[in-house]
Amino acid sequence: MAITSDEDLRSLELPSETPMGQPLDWAWLRGARSEWGMKPVPGPRGLTMMDIATGSYGEIEEEPQFRSMAPRGSDIDENTPDMGYILNHKSQVWADNVIELYEEAVARQWSSTRDIPWGDLRELPSDIEHAMCQLCTVLTEIEMIATDLPAKWMWRMNHHFLEAKMFLSTQIMDEARHSDVFRKRALANGGGLLVSRAGSESLLRTILEAKTYTQASALLHLLGEGFILDIFRQGELIAPTPVEKKIFRLSMQDEARHVAYGTMHIRQAIAGDPDVEAEIHEALDHGEKVFAEFGTQPDLSSALAVLLAGGVEHIEERGFPMQSTMATKIFTSYLARCERAGLNRIDRTSLPLDLLGIDRDQFTREGVRPTKERGEDGLRH
Ligand SMILES: [Fe+2]
Ligand SMILES: [Fe+2]
Repeated sequence: MAITSDEDLRSLELPSETPMGQPLDWAWLRGARSEWGMKPVPGPRGLTMMDIATGSYGEIEEEPQFRSMAPRGSDIDENTPDMGYILNHKSQVWADNVIELYEEAVARQWSSTRDIPWGDLRELPSDIEHAMCQLCTVLTEIEMIATDLPAKWMWRMNHHFLEAKMFLSTQIMDEARHSDVFRKRALANGGGLLVSRAGSESLLRTILEAKTYTQASALLHLLGEGFILDIFRQGELIAPTPVEKKIFRLSMQDEARHVAYGTMHIRQAIAGDPDVEAEIHEALDHGEKVFAEFGTQPDLSSALAVLLAGGVEHIEERGFPMQSTMATKIFTSYLARCERAGLNRIDRTSLPLDLLGIDRDQFTREGVRPTKERGEDGLRH
């Protein structure tokens, strides 16, 4: 029988206490306020978070009433405790692509132990092996910032925005794997970890110390991870063997999700509160400077040039020109990403556009195109 009212409940004559004398509450048996009987239909992939975000379960409120871990859609006690969340407005954490990105992340997890053909590594010329080890040292150092940063803010995010927290949990796992795979690569071919310079640490500190989550997200997702994504996109040119190519390709898929979330989040954060735009610009004014210093630090740039050139002997005629083409691509792509996020950086940035070979007028026409692999919403289509 369907139990829909207190009267139905009373008619069952259920006990009001246990044999030990403890009180019992049968209110849940009535179905509370939930939409009992609504049955999500699994799609070809199985039962996704999109499938169950139906009816009131899928309604993400702008400003949720409670600040507790009570599941969205349940019948919540009025006196549920306040967990001390400070990110209680949807535009402070949400991105409309976040549920799909979470599902994609879960479906595309990989293992650095199992999925990289480590057995195929062969002895490389000493300069190339050293350059690869230096690049891996920098990468394994900086990857974990994208774990620490979301972790720093997540417990401050209202649990009503559950899927955003779930997505950030996948980012945390992804970054642990990146840190792990580059550490493994540094050691796996008889080389090791080389030098760690203060420049990398200053960059990480700038990101970690951002005053708001949205500023932090702009620095991390738009600038930092965007930069790393574009380096991984050049993996075919950088990687000396198919082993590194695979590492870059798999890591690139993960980074693309993080950047897709951040780009959409920033766009919605600005739409939700126009004052946020100035805040983000300020963070990026500083962030771009620190980033340019990081990107041009002498050890990282020499190691990259050697890998692009295929050896120290070709660094002048091949390494440097390729590196400068790569820098143009990276910063064009960053500025275009800012446009997609609703930020006009091209007219504000103090990046040396002339030196980077970026033409302002050309850029405004081409800068807003969606990337090849992802559409305007940052999702794979
Ligand atoms: Fe990463
Ligand atoms: Fe990332």
